[in-house]
Amino acid sequence: MAREERVVVAGELTSFVGRQDEVAEVRRLLGEARLVTLTGPGGVGKTRLALQVAQRSVRAFADGAVFVELAELRDGDLLPNHVAERIGLHDQSGRGALDAVLEFLRDRRALLVLDNCEHLVDACASLVDAVTAACPGVSVLATSRQSLGVTVERLFPVPPLEVSTEAVTLFVDRAVAVVPGFERTAGNEPDLARIAERLDGLPLAIELAATWIRSLSPAQIADRLTGRLELLTSGKRDAPHRHQTLRAAIEWSHELCTPDEQAVWSRASVFAGSFDLDAANHVCADPEIGGDVLKAVDALVDKSVLLREETAGHARYRMLETLREYGQERLDGSGDLERVTRLHRDWFDRLTARADAEWSGPRQVEWVARLRADHANIRTALGWSLARPGEAEVALRMMCGLDEYWGQNRGFSAEAQLWLDRALAATPATHPDRALALTISALYSLWQTKLDDTDRRLAAAEELAAGRGTTSWTPASPTSAAWGG
Ligand SMILES: Nc1ncnc2c1ncn2[C@@H]1O[C@H](COP(=O)(O)OP(=O)(O)OP(=O)(O)O)[C@@H](O)[C@H]1O
Ligand SMILES: [Mg+2]
Repeated sequence: MAREERVVVAGELTSFVGRQDEVAEVRRLLGEARLVTLTGPGGVGKTRLALQVAQRSVRAFADGAVFVELAELRDGDLLPNHVAERIGLHDQSGRGALDAVLEFLRDRRALLVLDNCEHLVDACASLVDAVTAACPGVSVLATSRQSLGVTVERLFPVPPLEVSTEAVTLFVDRAVAVVPGFERTAGNEPDLARIAERLDGLPLAIELAATWIRSLSPAQIADRLTGRLELLTSGKRDAPHRHQTLRAAIEWSHELCTPDEQAVWSRASVFAGSFDLDAANHVCADPEIGGDVLKAVDALVDKSVLLREETAGHARYRMLETLREYGQERLDGSGDLERVTRLHRDWFDRLTARADAEWSGPRQVEWVARLRADHANIRTALGWSLARPGEAEVALRMMCGLDEYWGQNRGFSAEAQLWLDRALAATPATHPDRALALTISALYSLWQTKLDDTDRRLAAAEELAAGRGTTSWTPASPTSAAWGG
């Protein structure tokens, strides 16, 4: 984020409905507290509300807002690197990622949005502590299913949409996208109101239900929902009730999918962030069911299970976190999780190998864009390999290439070195690639101008190469200790 280019907020693909009071209230809270956390169950609209607040706070934060999506990040140790990357800090030489982030934000008036913090609560809390201590002009807006537990935190529980107005408007907006010309009329108004009410004004449930308008009328949708939801607890519309409502809406969406679509929904849940069709073909295909992955992906986009986006002219797909979790639960329940996550890892092992092989050629720019788009998936594949006995050498192999990509194009030396150190720690002392891995990791030290560390690594690599190195490599504390490597 250069000073001139301000708000770095993700584009919104669909219309935003209502929430005027909530936006005003959150902006007011941000004027009072350094950390405001939007809390609430999955699908209630925390992320969308945060995006709106960020877009409308440009005046309060003269240097803009940085939107950092965390659902795709599994490893809290990499949080500072992830934030640095989102800010666009390429030059981290000589500093850790956290220092680079703090230094960048120190004199700025900016809003840092941390989206979907619930699985990284401790790492987020530490980051917020560091930012609020070092950067007086920066406030943090977090979204999380649970509070971060930091003293400066103010909580804002996000309510569902107002049923008779906002929720109905959302349904109609999404229905029009499915059936152009769909209208709210005096005739269907009562049914629309019933749908909104049955779904407790939950935006995600409403969006899913609106896709059924392709084949059902509002009255039919309302009737079927009533039948389904009667099974659930009646009475107060409190959080547990809403949770079950959402669950029922997701389950019904799932039942309305073909077996192929259901399989792709489950399997695609292993991706982190977004994925492209090539990756989906490898990870989701299954000869038993014919496996026309493109057709299933297409249908899942229609059903609002997948969101389609474009990066550099290339279509990619992503799932809202709540739907991804549901898919992963199904995959786990079917006993197929381990197999599919392995396919995921294999795909990204192969992708990095191909990128490495074609690096010095005309496709380099294309590869940079592709690796960049798949960064979260590559991290997941590395993490998977390091967490399983006998698989660490795949991580080592993946990290023994692409040194220019990691080191020069993105200033990712510190992260690359962390992965190399973790892989070295997990592979047998006799593994033939260790000397090479150490040499490459020395290069990353050099790029970070840590000259002593470069020497240590090179000396260890030399010993290994000369067949003298029976001692296993242990990194000096500075690089890895901060990230628990
Ligand atoms: N005010 C709104 N107007 C239009 N669409 C909305 C609104 N609020 C939420 N949505 C839509 O509803 C869906 C769920 O919202 P969102 O992703 O913000 O939920 P969340 O609370 O962040 O869920 P999670 O905890 O799973 O991250 C999204 O598709 C979002 O675009
Ligand atoms: Mg969210």
